[in-house]
Amino acid sequence: MTATGMDETELIKQKINIVDLIAEYLPLKKSGVNFKTLCPFHGEKTPSFVVSPERQIWHCFGCGKGGDLFTFLMEKEGMEFKEALEYLAKKAGVTLKAKTDQVKGLKERLFEANLKAQEFFHYILTKHLLGKTALEYLQKRGISDASIEQFGLGYAPNSWESLSKFLLKRGFTTSEIIASGLAVASRGAGQASCYDRFRGRIIFPLIDSKDKLRGFAGRVLDFAEPKYINTPQTAIFDKSNFLFGLNLAKGDIRAKGEAVLVEGEMDVISSHQANFKNVVATKGTALTEGQIELLKKYSDNLSLGFDMDLAGDFASRRGIEMADKAGLDIKVVQIIKGKDAAEVIKEDPNLWQKAIEGSVPIYDYYLASISARFDLKNPLHLRKIGEELIPIWAKISDDLQRDHYIQKLAAFIKTDESALRQAINKLRQAETRNYSQILHQKKDDVVNLRSRRELLEEYLIALLLHPPKDFVFVSTFPSNIYDLFLAEALRQIYVMLILYLDSISFKAKSFDINEFVAGLPKEIILEVDRLYLIELDDKLKEARSWEKEVSGVIAELKKALIKASLEKLSFEIKNAQEFGKMEVVETLNKRFRDLSVKLKNL
Ligand code: CTP
Ligand code: MN
Repeated sequence: MTATGMDETELIKQKINIVDLIAEYLPLKKSGVNFKTLCPFHGEKTPSFVVSPERQIWHCFGCGKGGDLFTFLMEKEGMEFKEALEYLAKKAGVTLKAKTDQVKGLKERLFEANLKAQEFFHYILTKHLLGKTALEYLQKRGISDASIEQFGLGYAPNSWESLSKFLLKRGFTTSEIIASGLAVASRGAGQASCYDRFRGRIIFPLIDSKDKLRGFAGRVLDFAEPKYINTPQTAIFDKSNFLFGLNLAKGDIRAKGEAVLVEGEMDVISSHQANFKNVVATKGTALTEGQIELLKKYSDNLSLGFDMDLAGDFASRRGIEMADKAGLDIKVVQIIKGKDAAEVIKEDPNLWQKAIEGSVPIYDYYLASISARFDLKNPLHLRKIGEELIPIWAKISDDLQRDHYIQKLAAFIKTDESALRQAINKLRQAETRNYSQILHQKKDDVVNLRSRRELLEEYLIALLLHPPKDFVFVSTFPSNIYDLFLAEALRQIYVMLILYLDSISFKAKSFDINEFVAGLPKEIILEVDRLYLIELDDKLKEARSWEKEVSGVIAELKKALIKASLEKLSFEIKNAQEFGKMEVVETLNKRFRDLSVKLKNL
């Protein structure tokens, strides 16, 4: 966003109270310092939609949606950001400046530089001797000349400056070339200088759904690392809002009523070449919110066409959860382990066809893939399956679908259906309601340990975001516990929070959420807001109870950490015993005893 754009949205936010705006649409009821109501974005019977006048934001603890004035109108009225901006500007009496010519100018220049670069790369690959090996490599991988033309593939010669020189000659400045991401600034020499980012790589133009070339990916020809490099974040490129191949796939996605998601460029190109045209790629990363929005414009059905070691892969699970929440129907294309779409197609396009036709709903896939890892005749294993799947089942957002899979899972692990339903509902409520309960209910129940741990980590941050007024930070605060956070984002928040709390106690000021949030990166602010809006028990306003609660959570987290280590150790001990490594057994045993003592003393 431009600097002028920022000022305007800030100004509008100052002039319009979010409570007033939302009250035009929904009946708001006061609840503590906040307001509450039934969420308009998902069906619910008890209100979990919270509006915070203090932060000027809204958040729903049921469906996870949230944001500011602008996102509320975008969600509620289906406005584009620009429409919401214009609507609210009018309401607030703010006149919008046209984007400055300068900024508009830079973007235009970057688009032009990319187009010129693509011509250069494509020429080298298809016409120049320097591109010969790359061309042969693509042919060897089965990529046809037609595909090379359709996707506009190219080759960046293995040189430090051939592209930069080419662009300079065509009137682009060094700073424009650097801003486009095509070159990297080099240090020294006083004068502005740069070197080519893409060297000795096959070039894949990154073109958006509106046919705009925004950047490039470059793949090595041999086994060097990194295998791919990409245009970094620039004024016109953002990897997390981009899907490779969407420009060519969108029509077919709409026509077939389904998008197939693969991992990378080669998968998309092979797939299109074999006439499967509703295929796009995330470029190796887990699905983001932005990519889900893009997909939803064309279809509500999504098939995941890559080798997923789902159960363990937290990042892809999070993407799937988001897609589920956004209302996408998700299936899994089952392809042979360790292979990707490009390999399957190269072997035999019919295999890919069969795989797509045989794709299964994601939750059936979870059931199938987990049963491969466990012994279904062993009651202990059945319990483990339950523990692994319950947190996933609890996140199925559609009530009917969730119920359907609860029935399936109950039959699968031979458990009483209503007990299972209860455990899942409890977990769902735990997420939305009472964190304190999770702390004080020590029994693990069926409720998965890992997710209790996650909740405790969140609760700790929520508590730290609400220090009581009379609390003095320095003396009692435990500051060296950041290694207790397994969730990276929470650890990051914790570190920032400690720095902030330290600075205010030094100046004898009181906690100010807006002051704390100012200067944090955007993704972190969203998480902080969510945790800040969690309702805490009134008694925690008092310093003594608050400190007690904080210590309680910390002790629980420590215990969980030690328990996990003990489990690992006992596994290692069993292993060492089986292989008769008695000295190792001895050391491990000692470590086990030490840790057990530590656990007891907590
Ligand atoms: N990727 C990336 N940056 C990397 C590695 C991978 O952007 N350093 C993206 C690319 O879009 C790539 C995708 O992730 O196509 C999948 O990566 P990987 O599995 O490593 O690719 P392969 O299938 O092995 O690559 P290829 O098909 O090109 O041989
Ligand atoms: Mn591949």
